[in-house]
Amino acid sequence: MKKAIVLGADGQLGKTLFLLSKNIDVDFLFCSKSETDITNKESLRKVFHKTNFEYCINCAAYTNVEKAEDEIEKAILINANGVRNIAEVCKENSTKLIHISTDYVFDGTNDKPYKTTDLTNPINQYGKSKLLGEKYLKEVLKEHYIIRTSWLYSPFGKNFVKTIIKHIQNDANLKITTKEIGTPTSCIELSRFIIFLMIKDNISYGIYHFSARGSTTWYDFAIEIAENYDPKKVSYISATDNFKTRAQRPEYSVLDISKTEKIYGQLPKWQNSLKEVLEELKKFP
Ligand SMILES: NC(=O)c1ccc[n+]([C@@H]2O[C@H](COP(=O)([O-])OP(=O)(O)OC[C@H]3O[C@@H](n4cnc5c(N)ncnc54)[C@H](OP(=O)(O)O)[C@@H]3O)[C@@H](O)[C@H]2O)c1
Repeated sequence: MKKAIVLGADGQLGKTLFLLSKNIDVDFLFCSKSETDITNKESLRKVFHKTNFEYCINCAAYTNVEKAEDEIEKAILINANGVRNIAEVCKENSTKLIHISTDYVFDGTNDKPYKTTDLTNPINQYGKSKLLGEKYLKEVLKEHYIIRTSWLYSPFGKNFVKTIIKHIQNDANLKITTKEIGTPTSCIELSRFIIFLMIKDNISYGIYHFSARGSTTWYDFAIEIAENYDPKKVSYISATDNFKTRAQRPEYSVLDISKTEKIYGQLPKWQNSLKEVLEELKKFP
């Protein structure tokens, strides 16, 4: 049986992978930050020396886009230097690396979905640190998959869907921005794709864009969440085009998923994936 190590296992993607890992023909080892810190190469070496992993899945990252503006060094330490550590240890152990990156490597000036070959130009510190991580990984290890994804949500951890639901439950009024256009992506769908890459085993290395089909604004995403969760509460949500954030965000970050769909088949519309996660949320309130 194939063996795989998951780093950053306590994050929302790591936890979703754990949920889907049962009944799969892969033997997973899930490591949280307290068990394996990716900024500490020796801690990585130690766990890699115990077992022969065919795959490493890196779900570990510094993901606070706002705080990254002030904690630039920390974001680089984790999202760039940490990824280089993982790549180096994977190389030492002949392990293939599946790494997750972001739509925020783009500047948002496109008027059509971003292809994997489009020019990157991040406009915030989080995006810059993630792009540097991609660069280091490509320099160190040929046997890699970089999966750029967008607007992740799941039944676990902190994410937009759970935040909107919490506010709705408290009857709070919400102002949500119409300024950004992107694609919400379910961690369940992303986990299925990660598992597909491992099971298939012969997919060409390189960059893949992964999101659901379609695009929306955060405002329309919030409306869709409310309509599905409790339609009476839709009126609590209003639109704004004047939402101040510390970090600049790309106004348009829709990913072109055609390369992924060619090998994987058609992806679901974001509205359908949302329904599945809302169902799962009932089990993990
Ligand atoms: N969330 C999104 O909307 C989004 C969009 C596009 C791409 N992505 C990418 O998708 C991937 C998964 O994101 P996510 O939403 O699952 O993030 P998340 O929920 O924030 O999980 C990240 C995990 O990494 C851990 N971590 C931080 N520093 C670490 C270190 N030095 N060593 C080991 N683990 C460490 C975190 O632990 P602590 O919480 O204890 O620090 C957390 O458990 C990331 O690469 C992210 O950049 C996310």
